Amino acid sequence: MIKEKIVIEKAKPEDAEEYNNFKNKMWRIAYKDVLSEKALQIEEAKTPKKISKFATDIENPDSHFYVAKNEAGKIVGIMTASTSDRFLEDYFKGKGYANLGALYIAPEYQGMGIGSMFRNKFEEIMKSKGMNKYVVTAFQDNNKARKVYEHWGGKLSSYKSANNIGEETYKEVNYEFEVK
Ligand SMILES: CC(C)(COP(=O)(O)OP(=O)(O)OC[C@H]1O[C@@H](n2cnc3c(N)ncnc32)[C@H](O)[C@@H]1OP(=O)(O)O)[C@@H](O)C(=O)NCCC(=O)NCCS
Repeated sequence: MIKEKIVIEKAKPEDAEEYNNFKNKMWRIAYKDVLSEKALQIEEAKTPKKISKFATDIENPDSHFYVAKNEAGKIVGIMTASTSDRFLEDYFKGKGYANLGALYIAPEYQGMGIGSMFRNKFEEIMKSKGMNKYVVTAFQDNNKARKVYEHWGGKLSSYKSANNIGEETYKEVNYEFEVK
């Protein structure tokens, strides 16, 4: 269980650098055996642009960027909730799905319930928008996250997507959820 107070809050413009550096660090840790070094570097090269766009991106009414901060005010987790299916692959478009994305918890804070706190926050946001189903995408080889999504009751979609990074293609899976 969590020994310190973790606060989940909407990302602010001043979080831009820490948020994006946290995400890069998480990709290096979580996808160490999933992505190539080249793919990681290609993603990291996008960071300056992402930082400069951050203040605008977090104002998008369909994208909700959240951070988990520890007692020292440091980001220990992030999550993006998209409440429009226009961000999703064609297969899901027009079907009213929300999207839980970019869910990353710092290794030393994993397994303490922060992922579930984000999932609850996400469902609260989507319900406030009148949405009752969502999709979560993961790299096919991300077994740890897949176990969590299966535990949460996600149904493995027959639809398989892929993330093209540079010249490499990484297979993805999608989990579909319904909220009562
Ligand atoms: C996947 C991840 C986001 C989960 O966050 P977390 O804070 O560690 O998860 P929690 O402690 O909140 O646990 C989430 C739920 O999964 C369950 N769970 C955790 N590990 C599990 C496992 N190996 N098998 C089955 N269930 C598991 C927990 O019991 C909990 O269930 P509950 O909601 O019923 O209480 C986190 O581990 C992470 O950041 N991983 C690395 C980055 C990553 O791969 N992100 C996903 C990108 S698609």
